[in-house]
Amino acid sequence: MGEVTISGAKNAALGVLPAALLIGEVCTIENVPDILDITRMKNIMASLGVVFQTVGHDTLRVDTSGVSTFHATGDEMHRLRASYYLMGALLGRFHEAVITFPGGCDFGNRPIDQHFKGFEALGATVVIDHGCIHLKAEHLVGAPVYLDVVSVGATINIMLAAVRAEGLTTIENAAKEPHIVDIANFLNALGADIKGAGTDIIKVRGVRAMNGGVVHSIIPDQIEAGTFMVAAAATRGNVMVKNVIPKHMESLTAKLLEINVQVEERDDCIHIRPGNGPFMKANIKTLPYPGFPTDLQPPVAVLLMLAAGVSTITEGIYDNRFKYMEELRHMGAEVQVNGRTAMIEGGRPLSGCTIKALDLRAGAACVLAGLVAEGETEILNVQYIDRGYENLVEKLTALGADIRRETRTFCEDSND
Ligand code: EPZ
Repeated sequence: MGEVTISGAKNAALGVLPAALLIGEVCTIENVPDILDITRMKNIMASLGVVFQTVGHDTLRVDTSGVSTFHATGDEMHRLRASYYLMGALLGRFHEAVITFPGGCDFGNRPIDQHFKGFEALGATVVIDHGCIHLKAEHLVGAPVYLDVVSVGATINIMLAAVRAEGLTTIENAAKEPHIVDIANFLNALGADIKGAGTDIIKVRGVRAMNGGVVHSIIPDQIEAGTFMVAAAATRGNVMVKNVIPKHMESLTAKLLEINVQVEERDDCIHIRPGNGPFMKANIKTLPYPGFPTDLQPPVAVLLMLAAGVSTITEGIYDNRFKYMEELRHMGAEVQVNGRTAMIEGGRPLSGCTIKALDLRAGAACVLAGLVAEGETEILNVQYIDRGYENLVEKLTALGADIRRETRTFCEDSND
């Protein structure tokens, strides 16, 4: 049996680090993944005056006492979707923020209007000028905010600003992803008063003072765990996926069982083994948590390509997250995409060739396709994969995969 240990959650760490700006003191964050997106976030925060010290291999001591600017307008802002958390964090601390528009993987339209709606409800003005967003509030005052769409980023950003507003903010129709709970737990440890994170109504009572000295450990990465569960399943492996929270994986576990993969949950690990007989087709719709995560849609598509019959995937979050199918078609995949639905005619052999990672999770799907395809697959643009998977090649090699990294091949860069 192979074993793989899951790293800290990218999307939790990308919220926790900016949240530390609210205190202007020192705190310690454990289980921080060593990935490109975190490096970029650290660079951006360092340019504001944050001092990071690495302690051990995954622990960061974060000192935000030297930050005296609310301008975050460097080039790296464009290269990271999560740079938008500097809006909520700087607005909370300084009642003012100027940030460059965040970038975004191209999954179609990705507006941030719900973030603005929340900040405006708290009393901030939002002015967009020459590609920069200026936020300013004479007084930040708690208020009810109803999100028109369930948005992870807007939920977290509004929490960040509301923590330092006067009075009560109620976020209704809030997102419930595990990392929202993790970030709320971190903020509460710093002295915030947040209740209801993980449900669709979050109540934040503003506090006057917050404290440092906190040690917080980032939760395991739900999407990395899911990627390894699917990789183990697709290769008919016998793998123990360690350092996971099985509850976070339930939507995937249910689908793997339906596809005829054996999944056994333990306290903090999940054992994947092949089922008896072939893979079964399945229909999947991506939804906000606790629904099936959109970020596991590309990897699981590769597994469905191995199941005889027609499986469908309906993308419930983004307008256009099937562009990577074109790459997999080069390997022999039979897929019809119609708007937000992909019909996969599975059971056809995939064969290796040169393909491109188009974004982070599409890149993971390319790797999985390469693992199950006949012959050699070459994947270009692997810098996308570096953004969110720590030591992917090493972890897969330890599980017995024949995979190696060659000199970095850059075609273009994008953002998350
Ligand atoms: C977060 O993006 C994640 N990124 C994404 O992970 C993930 O795909 C997504 O949540 C959904 O789970 C980070 O945490 C850094 P949203 P986010 O706001 O916050 C619409 C990965 O691979 N919307 O929940 O940007 C939006 O267009 C990445 O790790 C509005 O209309 O996603 C989308 O259709 C990719 N207005 C939907 O809501 C808004 O103001 C959900 O987006 C905000 C969002």
